[in-house]
Amino acid sequence: MIPVVARGARLVTTHPHVMANYGRLEINIVRGEGCWLYDESGNAYLDLVAGIAVCALGHAHPRIARAVAEQAATLVHVSNLVHHEPAGMLADRLAELSGFDTVFFCNSGAEANEAAIKLARKHAWRRGEKNRNVILAAHGSFHGRTLGALAATDNPAYHEGFEPLPLGFAHVPFNDVAALDAAIGETTACFLVEPVQGESGIVPATREYLRAARRICDERGALLIFDEVQCGMGRLGRLFAHQLYDVTPDAFTLAKSLANGLPIGALIVRGAAATSLQPGDHGTTFGGSPVPAAAALEHLAIRDVVDIDAQVTTAGQLLTDELAAIARDHGDVFEAPRGIGLMLGLPVREGREAKTFVTRGLDHGVFLNAAGRNTLRFVPPLIISNDEIREAAVRLRATIDATLRS
Ligand SMILES: Cc1ncc(COP(=O)(O)O)c(C=O)c1O
Repeated sequence: MIPVVARGARLVTTHPHVMANYGRLEINIVRGEGCWLYDESGNAYLDLVAGIAVCALGHAHPRIARAVAEQAATLVHVSNLVHHEPAGMLADRLAELSGFDTVFFCNSGAEANEAAIKLARKHAWRRGEKNRNVILAAHGSFHGRTLGALAATDNPAYHEGFEPLPLGFAHVPFNDVAALDAAIGETTACFLVEPVQGESGIVPATREYLRAARRICDERGALLIFDEVQCGMGRLGRLFAHQLYDVTPDAFTLAKSLANGLPIGALIVRGAAATSLQPGDHGTTFGGSPVPAAAALEHLAIRDVVDIDAQVTTAGQLLTDELAAIARDHGDVFEAPRGIGLMLGLPVREGREAKTFVTRGLDHGVFLNAAGRNTLRFVPPLIISNDEIREAAVRLRATIDATLRS
């Protein structure tokens, strides 16, 4: 359904005590429903961002809301000093769906990657390979803002002013098998890689690259770890990105949409590495706490009855077609879209800034996002309907026309 709402003035309440570490848009969002966001004046925005690839089932999903409310009225927090059912059931479910062995829960993507980094090092250490401690990552990667994840992230702008970063991190060109072959050696603890790079502007790995990474890691005794924080949980049209690529890593990380908007992260591990972290090695107070775990369980239960993967494949194709038509009509402004499923990017050519379309989009009732190398990023709720995609294209075209006129 496309909401018809009279457009009122956009009101912005600023709060001077909120730290100014984000360049926020000039808008207050007060409510969401499905693929729509509403501001204080009741203006509706078609959400093509989903809280940065988070609200896979859309906003205010009634089943998720109910699961959260019921869990909140039962048990909100008890810590990892004891077992509790929501986290236990979620770990079992993730193991069943992935075929992996153990799950560590935390609260975010950065923390999931921190756990992966620590796991890779401890795994080598326990095998007596004390010099095998280098975390290899790819150029253009993004793994989070905590110091370990930041050291794995290849973005000098995010490093600036935070040096010295932790030692033992190295980077290789993305999608370059020869460079990987040359880089992985007896000091490599793991190769950490996003199957589809998100923050650098939606750049998919090739299947050949990830297959070669698997082979090289096996040959040299390094772990292969996929960061599926953004591209996992159905965004590519399969529950896990590695399933789409048909390459099985030793471990992978999830966060963002796992609990459809509640904070949770997970490191999921198989084989010998699955028991590398022993009591006392790693932990967090809130990790896998009952409310987010209940939301994640409900998310997975909904996926059992709704074929989200088929929906993503169809919707992704339609959105790709719409973006390709826009790129053709504005060939001097955009390059052809790229991406997989509902993780798409529309690269903006030099001379224009992706961010200007985002700001202008608010005037045309569409919520957009810019990522990395001057790219408009499209990561809408996975439930977006065909009508909503067509409406998004209309609003995007209006946004582009107005931006180019200004
Ligand atoms: C691939 C990837 N890894 C890690 C992160 C960090 O996740 P968080 O912001 O939850 O710490 C992100 C966030 O954008 C991401 O896209």
